[in-house]
This record gives sequence, C-alpha cells and structure tokens, in this order.
Amino acid sequence: TTKLIIDTDPGVDDAFAIALAALSDDVDLLGVTTVFGNVGVETTTRNARRLLALCKRGDVPVAQGAARPLVHEHPHRARYAHGADGLSGRSAALPEAERPVEAGGAVWLLSRLLEQSDEPVTIAPIGPLTNIASLLSVRPDLHHKIARVVIMGGALLHGNTTAAAEFNIWSDPEAAHRVLTGGEVPCVLVPMDLTYRCAVDLEWLDALTASGPVGAALTALTPDYLAHYRKALGWDGMVIHDAVAVAEVIRPGILRTVAVPVAVETSFGPSRGATVVDQRRPELRADTDGATTTTASTTVHTAVDTDLDALRAF
Ligand code: BDR
Ligand code: CA
Repeated sequence: TTKLIIDTDPGVDDAFAIALAALSDDVDLLGVTTVFGNVGVETTTRNARRLLALCKRGDVPVAQGAARPLVHEHPHRARYAHGADGLSGRSAALPEAERPVEAGGAVWLLSRLLEQSDEPVTIAPIGPLTNIASLLSVRPDLHHKIARVVIMGGALLHGNTTAAAEFNIWSDPEAAHRVLTGGEVPCVLVPMDLTYRCAVDLEWLDALTASGPVGAALTALTPDYLAHYRKALGWDGMVIHDAVAVAEVIRPGILRTVAVPVAVETSFGPSRGATVVDQRRPELRADTDGATTTTASTTVHTAVDTDLDALRAF
C-alpha cells in the first residue's frame, strides 16, 4: 500500500479525490492538509473534515494550512465553479467531524507524518502549492522521505482560470515555481489537458448515487459544479480533476508520462501562472541551451490509456 498525504482545497472534485483515497484499500491515507483555493481555508478545512467523517475516516488527522499565497495575495477564488461553501452550497448536509483540527498547522502535520513514516510517502497536492513550497523550504532534511509529489495542476495547451493558466498554479505561481523547479523531490504533474479527457457524465453520476450512501452524498454536492461545467464543456457532465491525480496514486502508471523540464510563469503578464512544458526533443534543447530557462525535470502526464477503472472504486 502507498502511504499518502493529500493537500487540498475542497472543492467538489477534491471531495471525490478525498473519498477515493479514504475508501481505497490500496493507499494508506496518513493525513489531510488544507489550503486556500476554491474557497477560503477555514471553509476548505471544515469541508475536508466533514468529507472524512462521511467516509467514516475520523482516524485521519487534518491540519489547516495557508490562507493566502506565498508572495502575492489576490482575491480570486473559485466560488463560481464550486459554490459559496465550496460544495455547491450543500456542505451542511455532510456529517459533522468529531476529531479536532491538529493545532500545529499543515506544515507541522506534513513534517510529523513524514518523520514518523518508515517508508517514503507520496504527497498529492490538489490545490495551490503554498503548503508544499513551505514544507520543502523549511524541512530539507525530510526531502528523502517524499516518494513523489503527484500534483493536479498545470496546462499544456490552454488554461481554465486565464487563457494561459490552470487554477491551482495560477492561485500561487511562486509556490508552484518553488516546488516544480527546485529539483529536490520527484514531481508528477497531472495537467488539465488530461483531466478534461476524464470528464464524467450524468450516467456515471447516477451509477455513483446508486452505489451506496457515500456515493449518493458525493453526487448531492455537485449541482453548482455541474452548472459550471455545462458552460465549460457544453454538455451535462463534469471534470473531477483531483480524483484523476489520486487515481494515479492508487494505480501508478495508469496515465502515460513523459519526463520534461517545466517552468512556471511568475511575471504579471497575460501568461502568469502558465506551466511552460518543454516538449522539444532533447537534442534541440541542447542546441538552444543558452536560451533555455529551466532544467529540473518533471514527469508530466500527457495521456490516459485506460477508461480509468480506478475512478470507480467508491
Ligand atoms: C483545479 O482547480 C480547482 O478548482 C479544482 O479543485 C482543481 O484542483 C482544476 O483546475
Ligand atoms: Ca482542488
């Protein structure tokens, strides 16, 4: 079993990702840390705790992390997609969590779980990368305890928050730059180009509702998100971005990958938050070395080979 920590901003698709990990026999969910993103961090923390309670995983510790980006604060959140409470206005229907929030905060919990683990741990950031950038900066002694960082984020062709940038990277580009170009831990990027190819339709949601109480409770969180994706996709369905990243953790290798240099645009031009993925042949890259901006290699998921059976594990 893979030891896993999820860093998250629930978020409707985060809810699906958390449930997938919480209920899977193939991963050992050591903890959940929260970050601002889709909504404010107090709300994402409350949502994360309630989602674990829904899955009867009150044993999983939760700690609250960053309320704002590392460097440049901005008011942009994603209520337009996830609803005012991050869960289509339906979070009150979830069970209350009994376990209190860990007092030390997200970086403390991440550090403690890494310290205590006898084997390397996978971290799946499915929100802005603020907590992970902080962790890598303050605890270099723990880098070797991180097996890989499987990030839902980035875009190869075009973004969702802006024409160029995907939401998680756009929300804190300096943090994404720190994590992706530091070269300290193996990073895997599951970009939105790929997650869009794993959109689910209403039939899939109906089957999920019929699967049992957890499936029905998850489906009940989707109305605002579905309304958003009706606009984004042009049909009735939704993209469970974050669950695709967790599916890759549960079944490593279900997504096709390529190891390439990735840079993050941190200027304030129209491409702020873009992931610049160098897909040129290495031979050409070597020729243009003086003009190349990054060398740290990130594994980027570019294609999906299966029909993502792993997403049916609820
Ligand atoms: C990402 O942005 C958020 O709105 C989702 O939860 C997901 O993590 C997709 O771009
Ligand atoms: Ca998310």
